[in-house]
Amino acid sequence: MSSEPNRIAELVARLSEAIEAAASPAELANAKARAIGRDGALTAEMKQLGKLGGAEKAAAGRELNLAKQAIEAAIAAREQALASAELDARLAQEAIDVTLPGRGTGAGGLHPITLTIERIEAIFRSIGFDVADGPEIEEDFYNFTALNTPENHPARSMHDTFYVDAKDAQGTNLVLRTHTSPVQVRYARAHKPPIRVIAPGKTYRVDSDATHSPMFHQFEGLWIDEDVSFTDLKSVYSDFLRRFFERDDLDVRFRPSYFPFTEPSAEIDMRFADGPLAGRWLEVSGSGQVHPNVVRNYGLDPERYIGFAFGSGVERLAMLRYGVGDLRLFYENDLRFLQQFNRREG
Ligand code: PHE
Repeated sequence: MSSEPNRIAELVARLSEAIEAAASPAELANAKARAIGRDGALTAEMKQLGKLGGAEKAAAGRELNLAKQAIEAAIAAREQALASAELDARLAQEAIDVTLPGRGTGAGGLHPITLTIERIEAIFRSIGFDVADGPEIEEDFYNFTALNTPENHPARSMHDTFYVDAKDAQGTNLVLRTHTSPVQVRYARAHKPPIRVIAPGKTYRVDSDATHSPMFHQFEGLWIDEDVSFTDLKSVYSDFLRRFFERDDLDVRFRPSYFPFTEPSAEIDMRFADGPLAGRWLEVSGSGQVHPNVVRNYGLDPERYIGFAFGSGVERLAMLRYGVGDLRLFYENDLRFLQQFNRREG
């Protein structure tokens, strides 16, 4: 072997050439295997060493070690070259053309229902009402029992109410609140009269068509003091409607109705003098004087405290104010619809 030094040099040259020609990591792995792998050409030469003896073996061993080092260096160099070529290719592909026009960022806007709730809150705050909220997953007690709603009342039926399968830690039955009225009880129990509060928020009923959505919004109103009458309800609510719609030519009527938690009870209807809906009575709210049993459930003496409550549909008011014909438009998230409520003036 040492008698043919050119043979090993030629072998190294041939193997290095293959290594340098490898165009991918896979090809390089193959070239490496053919050189110094288990069945590689250089490995085969090394296996022959055992057959030699003495000085001949030492010289051949040295030569083969140098050859192996040369091959390993060639592999490392090729590895480097392939890696940096790949990086260059990626950089070229991901290059950003700074001369392209930008895509633009759309400014977000508030949802028309949010805008409507903000408007309602501002009007009631301006006449001294607090704004409160309560849980949407509500205890059966606050949603029904405390509001004087008997066990067999139709509102409790499975057809109208979403019941929650799980009970809470105390074993209480839970429902998705069917109205904002439970907040009356929660708020009145936590505050001393005089109580003046509105409570806007989401409510849920098993109902779905052009004017009903299974999730909708209400705002509750409650005013409790020693001497609050139906007259106060009429003036507060009529005044609210005129300010909400920004018009004085608006009729309001209180039509006798029934709710378990108010006595007497009334539906509040309104009518525009002109415009596309002129002359039609439109129902906007339930209302009434709070039932003595409910005042008692507030933790107050019904002989001393009296007042009124109302619960109105936010979507209803938004539809009337903006002239929207189908409630479902509010929940389809079509930007062509939603953007109309956020146009900048001027
Ligand atoms: N909670 C009633 C409803 O959802 C509305 C209402 C509230 C009526 C307060 C009277 C008093 O229909």
